[in-house]
Amino acid sequence: MKKKIRLGVNVDHVATLRQVRGDTTPYPDLLHFVKEAVKGGAEQITIHLREDRRHIQLKDLAQLSKHRPVPLNLEMGATPEMLKFARKYRPDWVCLVPENRRELTTEGGLDVVRRKAGLTPLIDKLQRFGIEISMFIEPSREQVVASFEVGADAVELHTGRWVRLTGAAKQREWKRLAEAATLAHSLGLGVHAGHGLDTQQAKLIRRLPHLREVNIGHFLVCEALKDGLKASVRRMKGILEGR
Ligand code: PXP
Repeated sequence: MKKKIRLGVNVDHVATLRQVRGDTTPYPDLLHFVKEAVKGGAEQITIHLREDRRHIQLKDLAQLSKHRPVPLNLEMGATPEMLKFARKYRPDWVCLVPENRRELTTEGGLDVVRRKAGLTPLIDKLQRFGIEISMFIEPSREQVVASFEVGADAVELHTGRWVRLTGAAKQREWKRLAEAATLAHSLGLGVHAGHGLDTQQAKLIRRLPHLREVNIGHFLVCEALKDGLKASVRRMKGILEGR
C-alpha cells in the first residue's frame, strides 16, 4: 500500500500580511484562505500563536476552532498562558515548540531532555482535554527518547537545518533525520516533519522512513502569490503523493 503523508498547511503568513498594517484591514480573510487550502488538499491547518502575536492572533484561534473544516494543529510554547488557550479552544493537535521572541522563525527544536520535568504534567493536562501532542525537536536520539518519556503522541522533526545544507553535510543530516524517524516509530510515536520545506525538499522528505505528516507554510503562501493557495497546495499534495 502506498504511504500516505498528511499535509498540514501553516497559514501564519496570511495573517502576517494583515498584521503588517497593524490589523487595521479586513483583508486578507484568514478563513477564506483556510478554505482554499482545504480545497487544494490540505488535511490539517496549522497555526502558531506566538507570544509576541506577530501573525496569528487569539481571534484567529477562536475563529478557526469554531469553523475548522479539517483538524486544527496549534503550535505553541509550553507556557501556562498557552495551556489556558488550548484548554479553551481545544485544537485537535498541539505541537510544542520553543519560543524566543527575537527569532525570525522557530530556529531550533524544543529541548525536551532539559525540560522533561515541566513538560510531563503539561502534556498530561493537554491530553486530558482530548488533544494529541507532537514535539518539535531536532533529529537526535536523546530528544526522541525524551519525547517518548514525557508521553507525547508524535515528534515533528525539525527539517530547517537539513533544508539549508548541501552535499555531504546534507547526507549526514539526512541520516540523523532517518535514524530519529526510525527510533520514534519503534517507540510508537508518530513521525511528522516540517520547517523550510519547498518543492525540491518535499520531493526528498517524502522518502523519510515512517513519515506520516508534514507541516508547510512559508513556501506555500509565497507560491500562492502566483496562482493562489488552492493551486500551490494542490501541487504540494501531488509531490507528496509522488505524482
Ligand atoms: N512546523 C513548525 C513546528 C514550525 O514552527 C513551522 C514554522 O512556523 C513550520 C512547521 C512551517 O515552516 P515553514 O513556514 O518554513 O514551512
